[in-house]
Amino acid sequence: MSAFFVTGTGTGIGKTFITAGLLRALRTAGIPASAIKPVLSGYDSAPGSDPALLLEAMGKTVTEAAIAEIAPFRFAAPLSPDMAARREGRSIDVAAVLSFCREAAARPGTVLIEGVGGVMVPLDDRHTTLDLMQALALPVVLVAGSYLGSISHSLTAMAALAQAGITPAVLVVNDSGTGEVPLDETADTLARFLPGQAIVIVPRPSGDFAPLMAAIQR
Ligand SMILES: Nc1ncnc2c1ncn2[C@@H]1O[C@H](COP(=O)(O)OP(=O)(O)OP(=O)(O)O)[C@@H](O)[C@H]1O
Ligand SMILES: [Mg+2]
Repeated sequence: MSAFFVTGTGTGIGKTFITAGLLRALRTAGIPASAIKPVLSGYDSAPGSDPALLLEAMGKTVTEAAIAEIAPFRFAAPLSPDMAARREGRSIDVAAVLSFCREAAARPGTVLIEGVGGVMVPLDDRHTTLDLMQALALPVVLVAGSYLGSISHSLTAMAALAQAGITPAVLVVNDSGTGEVPLDETADTLARFLPGQAIVIVPRPSGDFAPLMAAIQR
């Protein structure tokens, strides 16, 4: 049994892409792997939602029931989860999210938990994803980008994690596809500021998830 919390320096950074890629790589290597996306805002039942992509990567049929099973806290508005829940007259029960994650993390095989948004997105009026990660105490995969500005966003996210006592198992420098900043130079710069931190690059096109798989198995 091993479980990882996949967070990001922000929304749209590549958490689902990385989680789905890892799922496929693990399953291809014969390692049972599953994923959940406990909290999700901006949910649309059309194909291509985060839970649908994760189910596909798990080789499972995408149905509403299957989506509800891996992503129980879904909200329609494309806003931070606390705001999106409020739009529906609801609020997120963070203790219930925590229990859901703990139960999933205890399942056999490798379990990947995709976070929502960035490291400190609010879940309710008092808790952010950082509190959830701290309470779960699972190894963290931090997904960062390679766009101009990402180095500062990455170091800021790392500082917030460090303040909560969290050192990511791996920092993923995922190709943002903007072509502005070389991926390897971004990783080299981050390495200079984060001595000892495992850093893995995921370029585009990115079929090779072996280095990332090796990093989480270390
Ligand atoms: N390395 C990559 N190569 C090709 N496409 C990528 C790569 N990384 C991300 N993408 C694409 O960029 C978009 C945003 O990525 P993704 O949906 O994984 O972000 P996210 O962090 O999961 O977003 P959210 O906060 O909504 O959960 C998607 O269309 C995804 O397929
Ligand atoms: Mg996602």
